[in-house]
Formats: sequence, structure tokens, C-alpha cells
Amino acid sequence: MKLNIAVLSGDGIGPEVTQQAIKALNAVAVECNHQFYFKPAEVGAIAIDRTGTPLPESTLALCKDTDAILFGSIGHPKYDNDPKAKVRPEQGLLALRKSLGLYANIRPVKAYETLLDQSPLKREIISGTDILMFRELTGGIYFGQKELSEDGNSASDLCVYHKHEIERIAHLAFKAAQNRRKKVTLVDKANVLESSRLWRRVVQEIALDYPEVSFDVLFVDNAAMQLILNPSDFDVLLTENMFGDILSDEASVIGGSIGLLASASVGDQYALFEPIHGSYPQATGKGIANPIASILSAAMLLQHFDLHTEAQMIEEAVEKALELDIVTPDLNPSNTGITTSMVGDFIYDYILHPEDRHLNSKHVYLGQSTII
Ligand code: IPM
Ligand code: MG
Repeated sequence: MKLNIAVLSGDGIGPEVTQQAIKALNAVAVECNHQFYFKPAEVGAIAIDRTGTPLPESTLALCKDTDAILFGSIGHPKYDNDPKAKVRPEQGLLALRKSLGLYANIRPVKAYETLLDQSPLKREIISGTDILMFRELTGGIYFGQKELSEDGNSASDLCVYHKHEIERIAHLAFKAAQNRRKKVTLVDKANVLESSRLWRRVVQEIALDYPEVSFDVLFVDNAAMQLILNPSDFDVLLTENMFGDILSDEASVIGGSIGLLASASVGDQYALFEPIHGSYPQATGKGIANPIASILSAAMLLQHFDLHTEAQMIEEAVEKALELDIVTPDLNPSNTGITTSMVGDFIYDYILHPEDRHLNSKHVYLGQSTII
């Protein structure tokens, strides 16, 4: 298959982790005879510095002209600490999601067997967790009208949802559940918010179209608690934009590191793949950023094009890296010698040299073996 992929690696650790995702895709291309062409473009703080806007026209045009987008991360402390900033890097990502109609953000959360002891949560609580989160991405409070009074003493953000915005993502969630453990949990705040009551009414109706999928509802405060008390109870979790943003960061502790969580943002026409973590400015350039979330986002990209075997090659390589402890210090603080790009190189080699798959020594893979 031939794919043109826009690469928007963005700020902070974005470029270094995205580079590892590209390595993994290159290995798959060689191994399976695909042609993947990578086209870089600027977004975020780096784009503001160069062009004055976080999403230059040329970047948006490139995204519309390619088959998929690989996104790194966005954000810079100089904007975080300045509430008066007129432009912010994050606006680039939000504008991209809105302009490309990427309404469904899909975030898988898994407790890897080999990492059960890395999570701050108890092994017996997280064991068996396999959640697919569907977060609505182009509506709600993120995109409603924002106001700041003239005296600067009052502010508001409107949370608006329309029926069709709920319907389209709900169908995706129920369809995904059909191929999984057949359960959808809607998370809302219907005891307080009118917009949540609309969600509940619309999704309850859609649930009738999927009789083989069980459907339940949780208020978001309770869901936040259940996610860390009984995470393995969830299958597909469906929610609106802001609740999904918060709950997906919370869910990342289940896997042991936010550096493991990948995501796909899809719409009717375009698709973007990005790790859920931010730009982690303190780690930039130090080689300590975990590239796995970005690499698994590349696997989701392959899934999107029905390249399931190829996606599995990446997933297997990631699992092998975890098993052999070829991981960055967020997952094993004593691994100070294992860098972002070493993890990427391992995954690249592992995809390309299936004959080495019987090897199980970390030292052999890292070229530190002392065979004489
Ligand atoms: C995410 C991020 C973004 C969001 C930020 C960077 C705008 O936190 O993708 O979860 O809030 O959606
Ligand atoms: Mg977030």
C-alpha cells in the first residue's frame, strides 16, 4: 500500500518520539513491501515562533492532502504560565481537530502483563484491564463560545452538543463493542448538566439498535472512582470531550505510564494518530521520553487502513520491548542507559529480523553482550 503521511511532530518531546514511530513504520514498509512517504510540517509553539500562528495554512493544506497524520505533542511552558497569551500552541491542535472534523478520539487502555507491578495501583486491581475509550473531540466546552468580561472579572465557556454529534460517535463506540466484550458505558453528569441529559437520551436510543451490546451509564465522578477501583469492569467507555480528556489521563496510571497510551482521532474524511501525553518540556532532548505511545499510535494508523498484520507486528515488538525491559526510565527508573531512540531501534530491528525472535536477552539486543 502507498500512504502519504503528514508528520506534525510539534513541540517538546514530540519530535523525538515521533521519530521512533517513523522508524517502526519504515520497518513495516520494508518487511511488508509498502510505500510510506513522510511529509513534515510545523504545528504548535514552534509554528508560532516561525509564523505567528500555531496552525499555519500550509500545514492544514498538507494534512488535507495526505492519507493520514502522525502527530507528536504540543505545548510550551512560556504559554502555560501566561494566562494573557493571545495565541497558544494548543489552539493549533484544537483547530486541526475541528477543521478536519476529527470527532472521535479513540484511546485504548491496557494493563500489560509484564508491567503489572509498574502501576501505582495494585496488580490484582488492574490485571485484565482492556478499555477502549471513545472521547468526543470536536464539541462541548472546548469549542463553545468563550467570554471574558471587560473588567476581566467574569468568564464563561459554553458547553453545547447537538444530537448528530452524539449519534455519530455513539455508533462508532457500539460498533467497536460488537467486536470486543460487548459492553458500552456512557459517562456523563446527567444529574446536573442539560447537555449530559441530551447525551443520555440520544445514546439510550442508539443502544436499542445494538441489542447484543449491554449498555450502562455512570456519572463522571463515580466513573473516575470506578476507573481505579474496578478498571477491568469497563469495555468501551463513551464520553464527551472534557470528561474524556480528564478520564484518559487518569486511566493512564493503570498501564504504569502515560508514555504508553496511544490514540486515533478519526472523522468521516481524515484521521490523525497521536500519543495522549503532552510535550513534557523538562525531558526535551534528554532521550528519556517514552516513545511507545507514539509507536503504538503508528500501529493504530495501520489498523485504520486495515493493515492488521502490520499493526500486530508493531504491537508484538512493543510487547517484546516491555518483556525484555528495553524501556525508558518512566517504566524502570534503573534503566538510565536506555534512551528514547534505543527503544525505537529495538522495535525497528525486531520487526525487521523475525528470525531473532527467539532471542530473549536484553543485552544481546542492545549490543552489550559479552560473548567472546
Ligand atoms: C489531549 C490534550 C489536549 C486536549 C490539549 C493539548 C489541548 O490534553 O489530547 O488530551 O485537551 O484535548
Ligand atoms: Mg489531555
